[in-house]
Amino acid sequence: MKRLKIEALAKSVPEMRVSNDDLAEFIETSDEWISQRTGIKTRRVSLGDNTSDLCAKAAEELLSKTSTEASEIDLIIVATMTPDSATPSTAAIVQGKIGAKNAVAFDISAACSGFVYALVTAASMLDSKHAKKALVIGGEVLSKSLDWSDRTTCVLFGDGAAGALINCDFDGDSALLGYSLKSFGEDSDKLSCQKTLPLAKFPPESNKKTATPFEMDGRAVYNFTTKIVPTVIKAAVEDSGLGLDQIDRFVLHQANARIIKVIAKKLHQPLEKFPENISEYGNTSGASIPLLLSELSEQKELVRGETMLLCGFGGGLCAGACVIRY
Ligand code: ACO
Repeated sequence: MKRLKIEALAKSVPEMRVSNDDLAEFIETSDEWISQRTGIKTRRVSLGDNTSDLCAKAAEELLSKTSTEASEIDLIIVATMTPDSATPSTAAIVQGKIGAKNAVAFDISAACSGFVYALVTAASMLDSKHAKKALVIGGEVLSKSLDWSDRTTCVLFGDGAAGALINCDFDGDSALLGYSLKSFGEDSDKLSCQKTLPLAKFPPESNKKTATPFEMDGRAVYNFTTKIVPTVIKAAVEDSGLGLDQIDRFVLHQANARIIKVIAKKLHQPLEKFPENISEYGNTSGASIPLLLSELSEQKELVRGETMLLCGFGGGLCAGACVIRY
């Protein structure tokens, strides 16, 4: 168990909403296909803002909501699979943008599990001596990496950023109670984005870009998810010392409404315990869990003392779940 309090949650999403019908105007798809297979109705698409811009806006809001000076932040972790660049990290760019001059900043690359991986990493680093306050943010501009002529992937994703300001120096019993993180590198070819290739010849033939767009074997990822995720959730709950019935809310990565239903059924838990906002935002990868949490917080749904399970899954392939007392 790690003492950890989520002091505030905030989100930053692009203004532009793109509906399924909007997509059907330029690719062969339909609102019916997308809604029935995934539950997605609209998604946000960023024009102009990169991942660090969205993350920095969410970070500024976290500071303002908690009346925290940027200089008080000791740690910034950004979970993203669509960083602005390979280096500097998106977290470092956010640090510069918000002026958090005392923070250490780095990214975590774990696709849709990224926020859970980042939260567990931050919890492990937070103690009263080295670091007290951290910004843990999930942010994606997937639209820049999608192949907009590939209907099997481009209809599924959306852009956005959201995060939490967490603190280990507080009164009360908020905590990270337990977790389970799993990686399955043997299936790394099932989902990839911005894959780069080494030079084939030297001197090089040309300077053309070699990064590939987003590619996914959707059916394989679906099968992985519905099989592995329930076991990872059970392992995290066991690690927390609680039982599944003691979890008040299951905040799952928003990849597909069908997946959430299957997981709820496999865990013998009522679907009402599984909040969703996928219809509004699509799959925002590393941003999806904090985006849902921040909306629940805006709606005053979250109750101090409640027990929540957060679970992400996706590219790697990987999955991660953690149990927190809010
Ligand atoms: N519009 C219309 N038809 C389409 C579209 C589309 N956008 N996309 C595919 N189709 C067609 C296919 O071509 C296929 O046609 P065919 O039968 O004539 O060959 C048919 O629809 C069925 O395609 P499937 O791929 O079998 O559809 P499926 O029911 O598996 O749904 C989906 C696809 C939604 C991608 C599903 O497999 C899924 O949700 N997978 C998991 C994705 C996931 O969880 N990702 C999480 C991680 S993401 C991350 O880490 C970033």
